[in-house]
Amino acid sequence: MNNNSFLLPAKAICIAAFLSLNTVMYAQKTADISAISEKTLSNILEKNRTYYTQGKVADYIPELGKMDAKAIAFSVVGKNGKIFNTGDVHKKFTMQSISKIIALMIAVSEKGEADVFNKMGYFGTDKPFNHFSNLETTGKPLNPMMNAGAILTTSLISGEGEKPFLKILNLVRYITKNNTIDYNTSVYESEKSTGHRNRGMFYLMKNNGLISGNEDQLDNYFKQCSIELTAEDLAKIGYFFANQCVRFDGDSTYKNEELARLIQSQMLIAGMYEFSGEYARTVGLPSKSGVGGGIAVSVPGKMGIGVFSPALDQHGNSAAGYHMILDLVKQYNLSLF
Ligand code: DON
Repeated sequence: MNNNSFLLPAKAICIAAFLSLNTVMYAQKTADISAISEKTLSNILEKNRTYYTQGKVADYIPELGKMDAKAIAFSVVGKNGKIFNTGDVHKKFTMQSISKIIALMIAVSEKGEADVFNKMGYFGTDKPFNHFSNLETTGKPLNPMMNAGAILTTSLISGEGEKPFLKILNLVRYITKNNTIDYNTSVYESEKSTGHRNRGMFYLMKNNGLISGNEDQLDNYFKQCSIELTAEDLAKIGYFFANQCVRFDGDSTYKNEELARLIQSQMLIAGMYEFSGEYARTVGLPSKSGVGGGIAVSVPGKMGIGVFSPALDQHGNSAAGYHMILDLVKQYNLSLF
């Protein structure tokens, strides 16, 4: 018996062990999302309910400070648009920065990607959502997810006065199939009267030749941030971008694979602001947060997740919301990576 033939049985055992390990890993990778139920969600919600104590409700927009810190909701729109809800499912909150992905879709549909991204970057960030980067250096915003880029994006949507805002509102209504959705006028007034930092960005971009209109355009941004919806509506938005801009009920009026890819890439690299890198490591899914306490998540090709809990961590992302998403992702191996 030569050395090689002596090693053969050991080799065979190693290969068999490797293959079975691979099978186990593969099985985990394809965890059955059709097993997700309301019970799954409520277990995860209860486990994470108290995380709100580790965050703080945003009050830099005074009207937002009135939110009930204990409110919490968790929704999933899964295979074939099936909806699962748990928690304060009827509780409405303002979408805030989550509206930025809707505005981006409209601006790119109208102007084309090259035109929009000629005026801003595709960059990630280590800066908070309201940072002036890079307006004082390159003169252009880092990306369309931070406030500066989002204000610019909305200003690029065609139409006088309130028309660009109405396009955003109508698209949210379409995606959620919920015509009752509207904006909260108190939150809008509150942000308009205190949003001087955003006003500063608006005028700096006007000075840089990126914005040509008047303050109506900034008002449209304040209004889009004040659109009120539920966690279920957010899950439907997540589902829409996860499925090539096809609605949860299968309506494909806006089907556009390329646009969905663009929006999800921005969600992945900047949707959670300076936390996006760590979030990509832990959750690994395109997501967009808002200071109203919502997060919309796209699981590409599969499903949408919507969470709500208004107490925010130091990055401006929902504290309990993040942990609910993280647990669902771990339980069903939903990370892209
Ligand atoms: O412009 C603002 O500051 C708010 N209307 C939106 C900020 C926001 O939601 C940041 N996201 N976490």
